[in-house]
Amino acid sequence: MRITALTQKIEWIANQSRLIYLLTTSYYKAIIRQEARLAEIKPSDKILCIGGGPCPYTAIMLHQLTGAAVTVVDNNAACVQQSANLIKRLGLEKAIRIVYGEGEDIDCEGFTVIHLALQVSPKRKVLESLLERAGNGVKILVRRPKELVRRLYCDQESCPLPCENYVKHNFFTNVGNTVLYIKERLYGEAQA
Ligand SMILES: C[S@@+](CC[C@H](N)C(=O)[O-])C[C@H]1O[C@@H](n2cnc3c(N)ncnc32)[C@H](O)[C@@H]1O
Repeated sequence: MRITALTQKIEWIANQSRLIYLLTTSYYKAIIRQEARLAEIKPSDKILCIGGGPCPYTAIMLHQLTGAAVTVVDNNAACVQQSANLIKRLGLEKAIRIVYGEGEDIDCEGFTVIHLALQVSPKRKVLESLLERAGNGVKILVRRPKELVRRLYCDQESCPLPCENYVKHNFFTNVGNTVLYIKERLYGEAQA
C-alpha cells in the first residue's frame, strides 16, 4: 500500500538523522502513552509488535515507558536491517529484538501483549491468526485509522472478540483509536 511505502520512507530518513528521529517521535508519544495505559503493561510483560518499519517507535517507547521486553516483527527485510541497526545504536538490543517475518505466521507463544501497527496488512487475517494461536489472557492492541483516511489503509478487522476498551487519539494523527481485545473473552463468552 502507498501509505505504508510513504511511512517507511519517512522512517528511513528518521533512522538516519537524529534530528528527524526526535521530531517524528513526537507524532507517536501521546498515542503510545495511552496504549501502554490501556493495556496496563507491566515490566514483566512480553510484548510483540507487528509492523515496526525502519524506526520502531512503538517498540522503543513501550519499552521505555513500561520496562517490558519487546520483540518486533516486520515482513520487509530492509526495514528489519535498518531497524536492528537503530536499536543497536540506541543500546537497546537486550530489551528489543527485531525479527523478519509475516505477522500472520509468527510464533506468538509466551507473549502477553501484542500490538498491531496501523499499516499492518492484511489486518483481519493477521488478527484472526493471532487469536487462534495466542495464549489465553493475551492482550491485543489494534490501531485503527480515522474515518477520513480509512481508505488509505488495509481492510479493518472484524474481530470475533468483544472490544474490551479503547482509546481515542489526538487530532494530528491518522490513528483514530486503539482497540484492546483480550483473548480469554473468545467467541461470545462476553459481549461488549
Ligand atoms: C512503516 S511501519 C509503521 C510502524 C511504526 N514504525 C511504529 O513503530 O508504530 C509499518 C510496518 O508494518 C509492516 N507490515 C505490514 N504488514 C505486515 C505483516 N502482515 N507482517 C509483518 N509486518 C507487516 C510494513 O513492512 C511496515 O514496515
